[in-house]
Amino acid sequence: MFDAQRKNKIHWEITDLCNLKCPMCPRTDTRNRCRPVKGLQHIQFFFKDAKKLMPEAFLKQVQRIDFCGNFGDPCMARDFFDICEMLIARCGVTVMVSTNGSMRRPQWWERLGRLFAGTPSWLEFHVDGLADTNHLYRIGARWENIAANAAAFIAAGGRADWHFILFKHNQHQVQQAREMARAMGFAAFVPTDTGRFPDGGKIAYMHPEGDWRSLEQATVRLHDDPDNAAPAGRSSHRSMTGADETIVCTAAEKNRFFIDAAGYLAPCCWVSNRDPLRPGDMLRAIAAAGKDPEHFNIRRRPIADILKDDLFSRVFPQLWGAGSLATCRKKCGRGHRNVKIRWEL
Ligand SMILES: C[S@@+](CC[C@H](N)C(=O)[O-])C[C@H]1O[C@@H](n2cnc3c(N)ncnc32)[C@H](O)[C@@H]1O
Ligand code: SF4
Ligand code: SF4
Repeated sequence: MFDAQRKNKIHWEITDLCNLKCPMCPRTDTRNRCRPVKGLQHIQFFFKDAKKLMPEAFLKQVQRIDFCGNFGDPCMARDFFDICEMLIARCGVTVMVSTNGSMRRPQWWERLGRLFAGTPSWLEFHVDGLADTNHLYRIGARWENIAANAAAFIAAGGRADWHFILFKHNQHQVQQAREMARAMGFAAFVPTDTGRFPDGGKIAYMHPEGDWRSLEQATVRLHDDPDNAAPAGRSSHRSMTGADETIVCTAAEKNRFFIDAAGYLAPCCWVSNRDPLRPGDMLRAIAAAGKDPEHFNIRRRPIADILKDDLFSRVFPQLWGAGSLATCRKKCGRGHRNVKIRWEL
């Protein structure tokens, strides 16, 4: 699955901490006032961990690190600036950061902007609406803080994109937000159709104030707009024909792997679920091969050794061939994903 001749990309969940309570995020318990789900570990990698676990010799093989994750926001990690500085200024790695942008003071964002200035690294602000709507999904976010933080980052020379998930409550604001993004100096505006609504297009959640509310899917779809490009085409590189469909592994195509906040390495964030009651495809593949899950934790075994494990070169492809990995079939067989359109500004 991973090609030692090509440079790697990494998707790194550096922490599972977050300051917000977005109802469709897996960290959020929608039945209990949007508090963090039980079992969340509230952990992070500190600078000393990053320095030890990502040695410079290994980082020479790394082209890019995307800081995002399933359960947290990278900008909540205490040492996040120092880790970015090590990667960008000292090791020449390109960094991408996905954030809600509402934590910390503008001075911190200005410093980050100076670090990013003149490099290929960039930041995605995930802001789903304007002053009157963003908090309807991004529960707990203060609009004024995001605006001040983004302005500070951009003024210092950092490249920033504005990502905007469409809901029924904000779909009328797309053009206005796009104009605001242009005026604020964002490089691109990226509206997104979410693939997370169930059939029926509605979810209910208990708001932190204790009352039940609902979110509704947008009634306009990005791919209905003929001016918009279709999602990027998929090549047949590293594809396997499963029981009833072809699986094209995005992780293999990009030579990109995922590390969760506890240090477990998996091919991608979709298969990484370690909950024994709802095991992800990584756990299924480990069980099928009779291996120990702990052997895939970068805190216990060097990353370079983990990547050479035949779980990735042999076991995953065999299981795809047998059509027995449910998430792989869903995400890389049928293409059940978000649809994003990128508008350069
Ligand atoms: C768990 S978040 C981690 C990064 C950061 N906290 C953030 O929100 O950007 C992972 C990704 O899920 C996206 N996301 C959150 N809610 C979503 C939804 N309902 N549909 C699609 N993507 C969603 C976020 O925008 C982000 O890109
Ligand atoms: S900001 Fe990101 S990590 Fe935090 S709750 Fe929202 S989607 Fe989840
Ligand atoms: S879901 Fe499966 S097939 Fe798709 S990128 Fe992840 S490991 Fe590869």
